[in-house]
Amino acid sequence: MPRSAISSAPRTAASTPAAVADAARGIWLRAFRRVRAETERRAAHLTAEDQIVQSMADASPAKWHRAHVTWFFEQFLLVPHDPGYRIFDERFPFLFNSYYVAAGPRHARPNRGLITRPNGEEVAGFRAHVDAAVERLIEQVPAADAPRVFEILEIGLNHEQQHQELLLTDILHAFAQNPTDPVYDAGWQMPQPAKGPRGFVEVPSGIHPVGHNGEGYCFDNELPRHDELIPRVRIARHLVSNAEWLEFIATGGYTTPSLWLSDGWAAVQAEGWQAPGYWRLKDGAKDGNWHAMTLAGLKPVDPSTPVLHVSYYEADAFARFAGKHLPSEAEWEVAARAGLLADAFGIAWQWTRSAYLPYPGYRAADGALGEYNGKFMVSQIVLRGSSLATPDGHARVSYRNFFYPPARWQFSGLRLAEFI
Ligand SMILES: [Fe+2]
Repeated sequence: MPRSAISSAPRTAASTPAAVADAARGIWLRAFRRVRAETERRAAHLTAEDQIVQSMADASPAKWHRAHVTWFFEQFLLVPHDPGYRIFDERFPFLFNSYYVAAGPRHARPNRGLITRPNGEEVAGFRAHVDAAVERLIEQVPAADAPRVFEILEIGLNHEQQHQELLLTDILHAFAQNPTDPVYDAGWQMPQPAKGPRGFVEVPSGIHPVGHNGEGYCFDNELPRHDELIPRVRIARHLVSNAEWLEFIATGGYTTPSLWLSDGWAAVQAEGWQAPGYWRLKDGAKDGNWHAMTLAGLKPVDPSTPVLHVSYYEADAFARFAGKHLPSEAEWEVAARAGLLADAFGIAWQWTRSAYLPYPGYRAADGALGEYNGKFMVSQIVLRGSSLATPDGHARVSYRNFFYPPARWQFSGLRLAEFI
């Protein structure tokens, strides 16, 4: 579990529990309103029809995201901690529970796009009902209960931020299935990568602490902090670019089995991959005219920006093609803490070569919230950094994202490493 939310609040001269709680109420109220408003800001670009579509089992409708994050506050904050709270609609927990088995039965994930009712207005009403109740709880919770309430509130806010990113990745996947190439936001622009010399820099070798250092919020999967042995390795300052990926394509990267893991090659065959996700040759061009679906619609692939929407299999194959490796997550973290990485955050989640496993001594929390991360620690790969869709202030150097190896609807890219 994360550290106490109270300890994340700025220090004050307050000394009694009541004074500490009162000092925190305003901070949490502002944080709650800010995060909730950001979800609505992102959804405001979408029509009602956009908000119900589910283009694949891994992606969820925007309306579902808006309701699910609201259910999270109702289920884990209001029901256990506000004796006067009344559930907005008794049917909603079944519809909007995602994967919390201990919280009760739930609607099948692949069928979320079939839920045309409740409609968008009713979901907005659900959000308003929970917003009012949470704000009341923040203002009125007794001081003795405040630390636990604010701790769960903080989890809920970080959870909602994760869904803010998914709201964008999921609608982009849906729009990419539409032959009219819909535009999410005509004003959206691809973030430009850092300038400066490319190449590789040596990571400090030896034993280094990895994991969250205890300052501010973290998810439980970033703990415990522990020692890792870093070998002699160099890591790329920059992310792999579209120009480099075009070279990979042009030299037969997608048609050379020896570059691929067995499962990766099977995915290439089964899915017909010839380029990163959302890339297409416009107007039937035979070569050199790659376009890609972005949040601003279909755009020419810019060779100077980092490659996006590649799977772990593709990242691994590219590394082999380049005669390099992917960094381990510990190598990435030590390099990032040393300030060696350009664009560590804000453009692309970066595949590592590390399986998503518990850190030594990790224990999931008791109860349903213990299902948040721990039960997914098998068969997935860690990505580090953050992406262009990650809300401001959400990620950090110890953050561990994770997806299955074939996934490429996230804003996922890579940087390389080489052993010395
Ligand atoms: Fe969730």
